[in-house]
Amino acid sequence: MMLRFDFICCALVLTLTNSVLAGSHGQMEPAESARQEVEAALKLTPDLDNGRRVFMVCTVCHLPEGWGRSDGRYPQIAGQLAGVTIKQLADIRARNRDNPTMRPFTSPQLLGGAQEIADVAAYIAQLPMNPDNSVGPGLDLEYGEKIYQENCQDCHGRNGEGNAAEHIPRIQGQHINYLKRQFHWIRIGKRRNADQKMVKQIHRFTPRDEVAVLDYVSRLKPPLEHLAAPGWRNPDFPSYFRGVGR
Ligand code: HEC
Ligand code: HEC
Repeated sequence: MMLRFDFICCALVLTLTNSVLAGSHGQMEPAESARQEVEAALKLTPDLDNGRRVFMVCTVCHLPEGWGRSDGRYPQIAGQLAGVTIKQLADIRARNRDNPTMRPFTSPQLLGGAQEIADVAAYIAQLPMNPDNSVGPGLDLEYGEKIYQENCQDCHGRNGEGNAAEHIPRIQGQHINYLKRQFHWIRIGKRRNADQKMVKQIHRFTPRDEVAVLDYVSRLKPPLEHLAAPGWRNPDFPSYFRGVGR
């Protein structure tokens, strides 16, 4: 009889503990749970071979080269600074940045934990970038350059190369429509993981400012050592089906 009572008490405590833990987990702010994952992933030593294995699922949308699509629906991710990719993956899966198309593929079952995030980010960082990304109309570039130098350069770097220490994205060579969509979402507060200083900085931008500066950014070329040769295909995925709509 005594034993049975103990058993019931024990089960009760376990159930309570579990529900409290589940509750506190469920209540953790998305930004906070993402921050913890970023911190963990940044401390790990990445394994490039495993990163290539994890990247397989990403190729479905971002293509084996990681160049995305020129219509900007899928961004180029090749060459992105590892810390930036780590932060975006953690934010997307913690729902601190909305991405309903990609989110299912960031579940722990498919993507793994902090180690896999670190691995795939390192793999992506060393992929050579698209030499032929889509760009804006090129009508107001001098003005775009002036806006860039006055408002963006301090953070994103002189040539849009980003800043690894601060996890500020590399934006050079990105497809124009993706730049436009993200910039707009950052400005209207739809991209919740946006940098608040950047939001303030672009708060008063006119449509002309926005169009000109993003056109200019899309034309900033990554340095040669980060650029693929024209026609390069990722040899890690030789049998990838390259159908229509590329
Ligand atoms: C089903 C399609 C799909 C798959 C699979 C997918 N993504 Fe994405 N990814 C997207 C879309 C769409 C966006 C852009 C969303 C937006 O506009 O905010 C995106 C955005 C990103 C970004 C943000 C880029 C930036 O510049 O901020 C990163 C990083 C990224 N994906 C990495 C990955 C990785 C790594 C994988 C594989 C583990 C992956 N994606 C799998 C569709 C996908
Ligand atoms: C105070 C620093 C700061 C300034 C100024 C700033 N940015 Fe940013 N920007 C950031 C950071 C940090 C992010 C990434 C936020 C995140 O998701 O963590 C970002 C994100 C972006 C993105 C999305 C990139 C992606 O891959 O999804 C674009 C596009 C962008 N910035 C363009 C600009 C342009 C153009 C300007 C100037 C008009 C500008 N930024 C000014 C810090 C800044």
